[in-house]
Parts: sequence; structure tokens; C-alpha cells
Amino acid sequence: MIIGVPKEIKNNENRVALTPAGVTAFSRKGHPVYVQKTAGHGSGFSDEAYAEAGAVMLNTIEEVYAIAEMIIKVKEPIASEYPLIRENQLLFTYFHFASSEELTHAMIAQKAICLAYETVEKDDRSLPLLVPMSEVAGRMSIQEGAKYLEKPMGGRGVLLGGVAGVKPGEVLVLGGGIVGTQAAKMAAGLGAYVTIMDISLPRLRYLDDVMPANVDTLMSNEYNIRQQIQTADLIIGGVLIPGAKAPSLITRDMLKLMRPGTVMVDVAIDQGGCFETSKATTHQEPTYVVDEIVHYCVANMPGAVPYTSTLALTNATLPYALQLADLGWQAACIKNEELRKGLNIVQGTIVYKGVSEAFGLPFQEVTTVLETAEV
Ligand SMILES: NC(=O)c1ccc[n+]([C@@H]2O[C@H](COP(=O)([O-])OP(=O)(O)OC[C@H]3O[C@@H](n4cnc5c(N)ncnc54)[C@H](O)[C@@H]3O)[C@@H](O)[C@H]2O)c1
Repeated sequence: MIIGVPKEIKNNENRVALTPAGVTAFSRKGHPVYVQKTAGHGSGFSDEAYAEAGAVMLNTIEEVYAIAEMIIKVKEPIASEYPLIRENQLLFTYFHFASSEELTHAMIAQKAICLAYETVEKDDRSLPLLVPMSEVAGRMSIQEGAKYLEKPMGGRGVLLGGVAGVKPGEVLVLGGGIVGTQAAKMAAGLGAYVTIMDISLPRLRYLDDVMPANVDTLMSNEYNIRQQIQTADLIIGGVLIPGAKAPSLITRDMLKLMRPGTVMVDVAIDQGGCFETSKATTHQEPTYVVDEIVHYCVANMPGAVPYTSTLALTNATLPYALQLADLGWQAACIKNEELRKGLNIVQGTIVYKGVSEAFGLPFQEVTTVLETAEV
């Protein structure tokens, strides 16, 4: 199968969907790889590194879309890319269709095969191609939070780890999933005193077993949250209710219980945020202040660390991409249920219920479409 890797053109997106190591993996199996020049620059991979790994470098995005049977990307295509997408071309990338009716109609019109990273799903319902970005954002939340706790950045002026004779800072983590676990580990590693809250008792039991001694677990409810925020220096929001907007766990009236200069990092902002006063920000202007509380609400945190994010993402996507190339998308999706769940739109037909429900558009079962799809 011919593989194409365009340069990401969405504003401020520096990741790339395939590393030189990935090119070698495809080449070894006889799949030619075409990469757009400078596609890897934002992540620190030179054109020479791709060429040495066996890729053919192309000058323009048009050439990449024109030659490839499978396009591997990071972000959803933007309007200027729509006309480049060909009928029956396989697109393997993040789409987040439910948040864009325009994109959904465009992909239906292009009759492409849209396999979305975010809906590839394992038996245990985990989302293996979202996990790496949650890991990055969770770890980064402490790094960012620690920075904004500094006085010149608007924070309380607290060093999370403390020093001899001075108590460490307090970190409260709401949500003990991927983001929360990684955040708690990082904060604990810095020497902070950490409390992690979740509504799942089995999850709290697990965390209690594996976390170091400076991490406590606590049931998440309004009473406990009101108590904890009074002494926390840094609060991380990492809750998720699949398919729903995140709940507002810290309401505006609760801000006055907190000490001025407390920092809140709302990682869940991409699902609407879990603090009432959260609104999405960018890396250009990551924070704002409400009632003397510093809010950090960047919706694409991993974008600031593209080198790490690219490697983390491609480690997870490459085995699936290789399977698609080896077997063809149809056989791969029949054989591998995880990949099948990633199919959102096939040759103009929506096959993912959440997308059809979001816009009241017609839907067909993926199995029916797989049997009748043209290859
Ligand atoms: N901003 C970014 O750049 C970025 C990057 C990656 C992920 N995210 C987002 O971070 C959020 C968390 O992702 P994740 O992978 O850790 O999800 P996850 O499903 O692994 O964990 C979510 C946890 O929240 C818990 N939870 C649900 N309701 C709760 C409540 N009321 N109180 C406390 N805990 C509660 C769940 O039990 C679960 O353990 C998601 O919204 C995700 O989209 C944002």
C-alpha cells in the first residue's frame, strides 16, 4: 500500500504522523512511503532523516494526496485539504467528527474511508490512541502548574517540593484516570503533598496501592472538594465522563474559599472543562485570572511538546497503520475489532453512531458496509 504523510497545516500543530523509524517499518514490509518536505521539522525530524529511512520526499501537499492510498495524519483535514482527498482513499488520523458538521459533510462528499484515532477502542473500552496524549497532558499539567505558581507568573509563590524546614506545596488532582495518575506521579516526584480524587472506588483502591507515600486518595464529592481546595496550591482537573460534557466540580462561588494565587489547570477543557470558570486558552496566552485564582486551560497541551508527543502518538498508531497497510483497510477492519471501531465514515456513509446522532444524519452498521464496500 502506498503511504502518504502530509505536513500538518492546522494552526500551531507541530506534530507529524510518522517518524523516520516508522518509515523504515513500512519500507521493510514493502510499502512505499511519501513524505511532504519539512513535515517533520516541527518535531525535530529532518527531511534527510526521512530520506535515509527510505521515504520519497515530495514538494507539495497536493503530490502527497495524489499518490497515497493511505494518508496518515495527526489533526483532522482542514478546508483547503478537502478537495485533495480522493474517493476510496484511506485517512487515518484524529477527526473528532461530532464537533464539526462541516468536516463530516466534507468527508461524506469526498467518499473517503475515515478511520478516526479517537474511536479505536480495545475490549476493555480503553482508547489506545487517546491514552498517549492524556499521558503527555497529565505529566505536563504539573510542569505548567509549577511554573504558574511562581509569583512573577501570577501564582502564590510556592515551590511545590518545599525545602528543608519548609513544607512542600499541596496538589489536588480531580479524576484518577490517565491524566490524573500521570499528574499525581509527577507531583509526587517533585516532593509535593498530593491528594487524588475519583468517584470510582475500585480506581481509588488501585491508586492507593501503586502511588508513593506522599499521595493520598479521597472520594470525590462536593463536600470533600470544598474542604480540599482551601489548602491546595495547585488543582488539576482531569475528569471524564465518556460521551458527556465534564461536570463542573469547582463552581464560581467556591473560588473564594481558595487562597489568592492558587493555580487551576483544567486539562478536561477539551470536553468543556471541569471548573465553572474555565474557558479554553492557547499556548500564546495560556492563563487568565478570575477572583485572584490563576486558570490554565489550554485545549491542546501536547502541542507544546511536539517531539515527545509525536513519539508517544506514533508508538501507539504505528502497529495499527502497519496492519492496515499489510491487509488493506477492509480485511484489517474485519479481522481487528479495535480498528473496526475506528471507522467513522466509509465511502460516503456514516458508520459511527455518535457521529450520525450528533447531526441527525443517516447511519449504517459498520459490518453491513464492510461486506459491501468497494476495494
Ligand atoms: N487539554 C488537553 O490538551 C488534553 C489532552 C489529553 C486529554 N485531555 C482530556 O483530559 C480528560 C481526562 O482524560 P483521561 O484520559 O484521564 O480520562 P480517563 O477516562 O482515563 O479518566 C477520567 C477519570 O475521571 C473520573 N471521574 C468522573 N467523574 C468524576 C468526578 N465527578 N470526580 C472525580 N473523578 C471523576 C473517572 O472515574 C475516571 O477515572 C479528558 O477530558 C480528555 O479529553 C485533555
